[in-house]
Amino acid sequence: MAATGGVRTACVTGGNGYIASALVKMLLQRGYAVKTTVRNPDDRQKNSHLMELQALGPLQILSADLDDEGSFDDAVAGCDYAFLVAAPVNLTSEDPERDQIEPSVRGTLNVMRSCAKAGTVRRVVLTSAASSVCIRPLEGDGHELDEESWSDLDWVAAEKPPSWGYVVSKVLSEKVALRFAQEHGLSLAIACPVLTVGASPAPKVYTSVPASLSMLSGDEAALAMLKGIEKSFGGVPVVDLDDLCRAEVFLAEAEAAASGRYICSSFVTTVVEIARFLADKYPQYTVNIGQDSGGELLEKPRVKLSSAKLVKQGFEFRYKTLDAVYQDVVEYGKALGILPY
Ligand SMILES: NC(=O)c1ccc[n+]([C@@H]2O[C@H](COP(=O)([O-])OP(=O)(O)OC[C@H]3O[C@@H](n4cnc5c(N)ncnc54)[C@H](OP(=O)(O)O)[C@@H]3O)[C@@H](O)[C@H]2O)c1
Repeated sequence: MAATGGVRTACVTGGNGYIASALVKMLLQRGYAVKTTVRNPDDRQKNSHLMELQALGPLQILSADLDDEGSFDDAVAGCDYAFLVAAPVNLTSEDPERDQIEPSVRGTLNVMRSCAKAGTVRRVVLTSAASSVCIRPLEGDGHELDEESWSDLDWVAAEKPPSWGYVVSKVLSEKVALRFAQEHGLSLAIACPVLTVGASPAPKVYTSVPASLSMLSGDEAALAMLKGIEKSFGGVPVVDLDDLCRAEVFLAEAEAAASGRYICSSFVTTVVEIARFLADKYPQYTVNIGQDSGGELLEKPRVKLSSAKLVKQGFEFRYKTLDAVYQDVVEYGKALGILPY
């Protein structure tokens, strides 16, 4: 599949994942030819939803592993845009260095090298996370963080907040990607999304959707993750999956140089505010907020995450309230078996 004949071609890595599946679908709906990678194309359980998406347009499903040097060469060859979404997400590993940090940095560089080799890629869009921005000591309330802010790795190493290896992996992966792009003349935009909520074609989800539904599902581990986000971030920042995918395509297509980091956050809320919203909106469920050990839950967010850089370039968030963001996720949760019908 070459970048000729007027059809734009995009590579999406990790196509069977939660965010990547939705991105593949959006690109096909917009007339792109898409090449996506999965670790094992023969795994029907993980990939059957991608095969269904082939009805929407030209979609190749190729095999590639972040751990295998050069394995993304074929997938990126001839592409106009490369969306780097695949990444290890081992939030509870006992050895984050081995399972999260090293493979993430190595894998990011691996795909960046394939992009440089291809010679056709007009822009690389790396999906990172706002964990690279806001995990740092913040006294008091009213902080507004933007892309100038980096999570403080010395503080993270000393304090080891929840999922600290993930934080380190995102900071280091962004930094190596930025350096590589500069050295090799690649145009790189980095999306830093927050808790991403919404329905995806993916039939299995592991992090944000279970967390966002945890007070309805009674999943204690997922609720602990939601509370961990509030504690580390000073609030629960949220973006809708559709807004995130539109933002990533926007960053790829932007005529003006879209470069560096872009925080993708619609609004910041709290666990308590989400609980109140859910109780009001879904009276058929029991909303379980769990224990608030020591009154640690926030009434109001302490931190605001600014997506002004993205908005200034012309991007518009469509889902700006809990009501809008939760519109389709409860039905999605039912379809996935996270919530009872
Ligand atoms: N969901 C959120 O709220 C959120 C928020 C901020 C940032 N992010 C970031 O967005 C990205 C995607 O997240 P997600 O929620 O969509 O997670 P996900 O559903 O777990 O997707 C991760 C993808 O990466 C692939 N992958 C993992 N290790 C790999 C390897 N060694 N080689 C090739 N592929 C590999 C997985 O493939 P397998 O299926 O084969 O394991 C899967 O397709 C991640 O970088 C995540 O940190 C997510």
